[in-house]
Amino acid sequence: MSDGNWQAICGDADIEEGAMVPVEIGDLQLALYRVGGEVFATDNVCTHGFALLTDGILEDDVVECPLHGGMFNIRSGKALCEPVDCDVRTYRTRRVDDRIEVLLDQSRNGDV
Ligand code: FES
Repeated sequence: MSDGNWQAICGDADIEEGAMVPVEIGDLQLALYRVGGEVFATDNVCTHGFALLTDGILEDDVVECPLHGGMFNIRSGKALCEPVDCDVRTYRTRRVDDRIEVLLDQSRNGDV
């Protein structure tokens, strides 16, 4: 039985603490973040306009969009301030050996 559509997207060593890494898988543009040793993944395109979150600023678990300064929590995807009012999609991640994998067919938003 399959445990979902987990895809290896980068090496564990490819993303440093406090860093953001853009990753493209087919049509999907993802942003990876490492905070507190954990790796998080969201869509990379802002929900407000066409800007890549990985071109913005990451501070703790909040990413600020480079275009208009909208902010998202990278753990929950929650839109935190204007002008963004739509959450960004998040994805589960896991480390397998020296790889980071992301679960592509399931959102993490609203899991709890
Ligand atoms: Fe991201 Fe406007 S495009 S806040």
